Amino acid sequence: MRFPIYRPRRLRQSEGFRRMVRETTVEASDFIFPMFVTHGRGVRLEIASMPGVCRLSRELAAQEAKEVAALGIPAVLLFGIPERKDETGSSALEPHGVVQEAIRAIKDAVPDLVVVTDVCIDEYTSHGHCGVVRDGKILNDPTLEILAAMAVSHARAGADLVAPSDMMDGRVKAIREALDREGFTDLPIMAYAAKYASCFYGPFREAADCAPKFGDRRSYQMDPPNAREALREVALDIEEGADLIMVKPALPYLDVIARVREAFDYPIAAYNVSGEYAMIKAAGRLGWLDEERAMMEALVAIRRAGADLILTYFAKDAARLLQR
Ligand code: PBG
Repeated sequence: MRFPIYRPRRLRQSEGFRRMVRETTVEASDFIFPMFVTHGRGVRLEIASMPGVCRLSRELAAQEAKEVAALGIPAVLLFGIPERKDETGSSALEPHGVVQEAIRAIKDAVPDLVVVTDVCIDEYTSHGHCGVVRDGKILNDPTLEILAAMAVSHARAGADLVAPSDMMDGRVKAIREALDREGFTDLPIMAYAAKYASCFYGPFREAADCAPKFGDRRSYQMDPPNAREALREVALDIEEGADLIMVKPALPYLDVIARVREAFDYPIAAYNVSGEYAMIKAAGRLGWLDEERAMMEALVAIRRAGADLILTYFAKDAARLLQR
């Protein structure tokens, strides 16, 4: 029997060799940790379908942000759960709203941590949609003004980066123009460029209390079977002034991440969403998967597909593991 000359197993035989030829790394500096901030004081409410993730009032959010920074994670992403909701999500624009106050508390406690804010009104509207509703329709252009004002309000409170997740057409341009007009020319935008209408956002909607009260988000978020369309969405957001682009969800859309990576020379973030987190946590709890290994394999896969940054609820767990 004649053996092949090249034996791939030669470089797999020890951890030393494996480390030397490893193509992809995952580090704490790749992560952005999403957080849910709410009104009141001393509030810490665990989200049932997202073990380890809590809604926090601002001072506890600042405390958690300190832990995040100490683990070497460079950024947090803030979602707000306000006290009051209405048709147009007006509590999103309050100068002392939940997110605005949380930004101040976090920047006070950890000035070097990058504070990213989600710009979308679904957590603030009574109907739970990401846009203004009239006659059962989600209106695009009237929503743009609100999003732009929301981004400016976050900027005034001290946000370092704003991230529109609404999927209205033209919102990056509207936000860029408003920020520039108000003097925030240096504040970057991370656009949720290719965001799909996904069932994997289920646990998040419990966390943020933002499930739509009627219909669904399919008239504005992308249709899961489409990949070429993702490239058009990304191209548009770049044209409109996006500094970073995002693909969301991550694991069921690794092909989209890879195609966007191929086509664009921009920093790419991928959102390892609530449902992806919940699946691994649940299987881990049942003893059906090794939770730590599943987490690290998922994160490295997202990086391997081409993402520079990963928004993930695993950020703290993974950073701790990487320190060992
Ligand atoms: C909308 C928004 C959603 C998520 C982030 N921003 C929910 C949605 O579009 O329905 C989902 C994030 C996750 O599932 O972790 N503001």
